Amino acid sequence: MASASAKTILFGEHAVVYGEPAIAVPLSEIRTRADFVPNGECFRIDSDKSETDLPFSELPDGTGLKVLIRWLCEAYHIPELPKETLTIRSDIPIASGLGSGAALSAAVCRAFAERFGFNMSKDELNAAVYEIEKIYHGNPSGIDNTTIVYEHPILFTRGSDPQVLPIPIPRKQLLVISTGIYSPTAEVVADVRAHYPENAEIIRSIGALVREALPPLKACDLEKLGELMNENHYLLQKLEVSCRELDELQTFALRHGAVGAKLTGAGRGGNLIALAPSYDAAYTLRNEFRRKGAHVIL
Ligand code: PMV
Repeated sequence: MASASAKTILFGEHAVVYGEPAIAVPLSEIRTRADFVPNGECFRIDSDKSETDLPFSELPDGTGLKVLIRWLCEAYHIPELPKETLTIRSDIPIASGLGSGAALSAAVCRAFAERFGFNMSKDELNAAVYEIEKIYHGNPSGIDNTTIVYEHPILFTRGSDPQVLPIPIPRKQLLVISTGIYSPTAEVVADVRAHYPENAEIIRSIGALVREALPPLKACDLEKLGELMNENHYLLQKLEVSCRELDELQTFALRHGAVGAKLTGAGRGGNLIALAPSYDAAYTLRNEFRRKGAHVIL
């Protein structure tokens, strides 16, 4: 079955829209999957996330998925869609900063490539997913699609080739905790833009922080990385993209053993990431979050 991973931004969200660097990693454990299943009737879309099971022709025009499928048919010379259901199943919460939109597009492209036997290079796939991201997000930096398509940790700067980063943080020590609040990226990004003059200095400070994070990332200096995550969260608070729930989760993470924690993605909801200094500390922290009733995604 074709699939694509989620992603999380370790450092640099929002500032990346304005040309500052950012660091993101794929979350390969959580994925969106897409597959064709014969139905003998017509081409249908069955998606657990949008709770849709309907003929393709009834999908509203202009939606990302419809635009993408029409484009795939044209670009790869698919004259007729088969009497099959494109089944989409996703573990990635939507509008939560984990790249659910980009993962959906990437998984669908991969399912089409497998089903109709065409080849899509990673660069072609990345370009296609980015076009659809524009429908979802308006003015995306491209960090979501790039991290998800290449499925590798990257240092991303808008307009430049992404740099693959070795990120030796033990995967189990990076926790992802949900606020349960949906927050459409486009709205938050538009708000930050509307206040650009006041935000310019904060955006530059986030860029400087991302550059500062590179040596401790390479050295896997978790204490320093944690410190920088907290600082990044503080700068995002100043950009007014955090919220009470994210701030409470961040404080809770620090009180229960995390060396650092920050919101990830657009903010005002979505998810918090927290870094634990050891495997045991991560285990305890996960349990503390669960005891509190929080939804631990990873
Ligand atoms: O889609 P999200 O919530 O992961 O946000 C992407 C990160 C932003 O920097 C806020 C926007 C962008 O296009 O880079």
